[in-house]
Amino acid sequence: MGKIILGDQILERSDVNIDLEDRGYQFGDGVYEVIRVYGGELFTIKEHIERLFQSAKKIKLDVSMSSEQIRGLTEELVKENGVDFGSVYMQVTRGAAPRAHMFPKPESSTKAVFTAYTNEVPRPASLLEKGVEAITTEDIRWLRCDIKSLNLLPNVLAKQEAADSDCFEAILHRNGIVTEGSSSNAYIVKNGEVITHPANNLILNGITRQVLAELCKENGIPFIEKEFELIDLQNADEVFITSTVSEVMPVIKVNGETVANGKPGNITCKLQGLFEARINQDTKVEI
Ligand SMILES: Cc1ncc(COP(=O)(O)O)c(C=O)c1O
Repeated sequence: MGKIILGDQILERSDVNIDLEDRGYQFGDGVYEVIRVYGGELFTIKEHIERLFQSAKKIKLDVSMSSEQIRGLTEELVKENGVDFGSVYMQVTRGAAPRAHMFPKPESSTKAVFTAYTNEVPRPASLLEKGVEAITTEDIRWLRCDIKSLNLLPNVLAKQEAADSDCFEAILHRNGIVTEGSSSNAYIVKNGEVITHPANNLILNGITRQVLAELCKENGIPFIEKEFELIDLQNADEVFITSTVSEVMPVIKVNGETVANGKPGNITCKLQGLFEARINQDTKVEI
């Protein structure tokens, strides 16, 4: 749609060229964020920009812009593009340089390349109400899944495997321990407790996950960060996933087998309500 951000400028998308030797393009050498827009307002933008800087730091990438500058430009872009319900995709790469694996020398002219664009994306209302199906598959990713890096090939392969089975998400496991979804965090509910993998190097600590942890705390719902196994998914009272775009999404079937009675569970529905209230409160938009 319309305009995009390149560095510190807002430009027409058609006026922008990205160098073929951009390291993001050739090596996946960069990091990214996806931020939700509700009724023209950015939700949890501060947290997303903070995570962008944390991811960049972990790969020794100097963003070359301040968080205030990125926030200001992003807010302006959303306005200029007239986004109502949608998302902002932003990424920063290590820039363009003659192809070589090692970082460009500090004295070279290579600088980080920041880009962002917007999309209209409706809320997935009917899926949120009915729930979705998932498969499980092996987590073949590297050991720094805490970094929101551009290298998403294992995630892409897992998501395609889910799509090939007409499923919404692939829930990943390492030797039977459930880590997260291919583009979401994964949870079970057992005996009234919400259980999810600890936020270590094996998962991305989702912004939605962090909001959910707060909501659980505020509302007396136990939020337990501990490992659980594939078998626990099968025996769970409820299963759900979270992400910026999918919000709090019930999972009603895993590998073709129904979870409990095959309907979104009570705690999942309660968390959906609390999450919507948080969106309304933060954005002042009635969703
Ligand atoms: C691998 C992975 N885990 C978790 C998430 C959820 O993170 P967030 O809630 O910040 O969107 C995502 C989002 O894209 C993801 O790609």
